Amino acid sequence: PVWAVLVVAAGRGERAGLGLPKQYRPVAGISVLARSILALGEALPEAQILCATGPEDGPRYAAMLDELPPELARRLLPPVIGGPTRQASVRNGLESLSRLATPPTHVLIHDAARPFASASLVQRVAAAAAETGAAVPGVPVVDTIKRVDAAGAIIETPARSELRAVQTPQAFAFEPLLAAHRRAADAGVADLTDDAAVAEWAGSTVRVVEGDVRNVKLTRPEDFAEAEARLSRPLE
Ligand code: C5P
Repeated sequence: PVWAVLVVAAGRGERAGLGLPKQYRPVAGISVLARSILALGEALPEAQILCATGPEDGPRYAAMLDELPPELARRLLPPVIGGPTRQASVRNGLESLSRLATPPTHVLIHDAARPFASASLVQRVAAAAAETGAAVPGVPVVDTIKRVDAAGAIIETPARSELRAVQTPQAFAFEPLLAAHRRAADAGVADLTDDAAVAEWAGSTVRVVEGDVRNVKLTRPEDFAEAEARLSRPLE
């Protein structure tokens, strides 16, 4: 397979309450986005890497490039501007990859806000997708999850043993995922929160492989405090 990596970094990160998009915030001296790119670049050393960035993030993105070793920075394609939703940002990235002289056969899509994806996790997901066409990492949930209505009344309680909390990176055969994104957008389905959901919507089977509880998405202020603390501890 010819892999491309797409890092979605066009969110505003408002829940983190920082005044700058959370993916540009430094954690132990290195921005979250640079950490994510470092992890992915090491795990898939042949892959080209594309970031989807916010329309006003040009200067921040340029500063982020200076955090990367030059040989890794050279593997980054010029960034593409993201869209109003995560789904739209991925679509823009996929369209841009499809216009390369040699488009990838497979794509691995990662949230910029998950800087702790290990090389073994990335490679596990990529290997499963190379075999099956679509794979995502998931971990068992510890809470009992409820589906609720707008008033907060519980509608149902799915059996916990069947539930997985799904993470990124998510990996797919390129052409079918691009086709699924185009069909979903054309059908007005615009707010799916991960790419597995887009593939599922289009009728594909997506395999869940073992995720990693350390591969957290930095979302709230306390997530950043915990990430700093983790990086300042000796190896876990
Ligand atoms: O908001 P959430 O944490 O689910 O975002 C997941 C990832 O998607 C983040 O890395 C964020 O930057 C990205 N995103 C994006 N474009 C948007 C919204 C989110 O690239 N419009």
